[in-house]
Amino acid sequence: MKIAICTSGGDCAGLNAAIAAAVRFAEHKYQVPLWGLKSGLNALLDPSTNLIELTSASVAGITSQGGTILYSANYGSPFRDVSDKKPIIKSMIKTARSLGITHLIVIGGEGSHGIAKELLGNGVTFIGVPKTIDNDMPGNEITIGFKSAVEIAVQSAANIKTTARSHGRFMFLEVMGRDCGSLALEVGLASEAEFILIPEKPYSLDVIISRLKTLIKSGQNYGLGIIAEGAYPLGGGQCYISSSGSSKKKKLGGAAQFLSEQIWEKEGIESRSVVLGHIQRGCPPICDDRLLAQRLGVKAVEACFNKIQSDIVLCINGNVIKAKPYASFDFKARRRVEPSDPILKLAQNFDICLGT
Ligand code: F6P
Repeated sequence: MKIAICTSGGDCAGLNAAIAAAVRFAEHKYQVPLWGLKSGLNALLDPSTNLIELTSASVAGITSQGGTILYSANYGSPFRDVSDKKPIIKSMIKTARSLGITHLIVIGGEGSHGIAKELLGNGVTFIGVPKTIDNDMPGNEITIGFKSAVEIAVQSAANIKTTARSHGRFMFLEVMGRDCGSLALEVGLASEAEFILIPEKPYSLDVIISRLKTLIKSGQNYGLGIIAEGAYPLGGGQCYISSSGSSKKKKLGGAAQFLSEQIWEKEGIESRSVVLGHIQRGCPPICDDRLLAQRLGVKAVEACFNKIQSDIVLCINGNVIKAKPYASFDFKARRRVEPSDPILKLAQNFDICLGT
């Protein structure tokens, strides 16, 4: 048995905590080392990829650190736009086998787990661990990295509200999350934002302007809006950044700037935009994320030694970790904010403008 571990997709806080926990537990309980596969699952596309041996000594002190000592990549799926997946699967599995990997722990989001699902049934057992600041993994309530991203965004939002107040301005803070508004919702509520705009509820510019006017009339000439990068106006589309480097994926960005400009052009109300961007990903993990990552890291190693559980994703629901078969997931059906979401319902209790 040779267990390897990798971090795949966009990084987030808590990856190192999961790696360290898995390594320390494997050594302590089973007296085996874990092997690190660098730069995510796509590393298997390169036949010359190597593994690094991980020990308690080599992972000491990383639990509190953001990022990932195993590096990561967010290039999208190698199966995208490919008519015949088989040669790619064959070559990735060949690399894994030549490295002697029997079990591969994949700490990733739905994109990485979607890639892993394609590789099943070829002699390598996969164990999935959900991470992403977007919290959009289907079948899972909370991902590693989400709460730390919320925390860092809430801290930034407080500073933005302060300067908005000093200058009598409305400021919109753009947070990440892709097509899921969970991050924006939690940040907006915790920050007492006047506006929270999420992709699940396309906004009306008229509604936003009318709320701005009401606030100004009531004597409040400043305010904070939290807008998800994937939010867009009714009848319009999402905003994308023009350059997305080596990635095959189009990257969201510019939603806050677009809205601020619209407000200025249509009504002449001063409004500014701030993009928080990767600061949400690169922060150190808060305590809750460290503990969540440790729990999942330990469970992932346990699953490797549990012959009944193979090819599974470890999901958290109601604070309980359950193993669900990889094959049962449709990773394209990402988790989104449903109308019944308790956090959305909470926001609806207040005079927060949700854009409609
Ligand atoms: O999926 C995580 C995420 O951070 C999204 O919130 C964001 O849209 C995307 O990754 C950014 O990716 P990149 O690091 O390639 O810019």
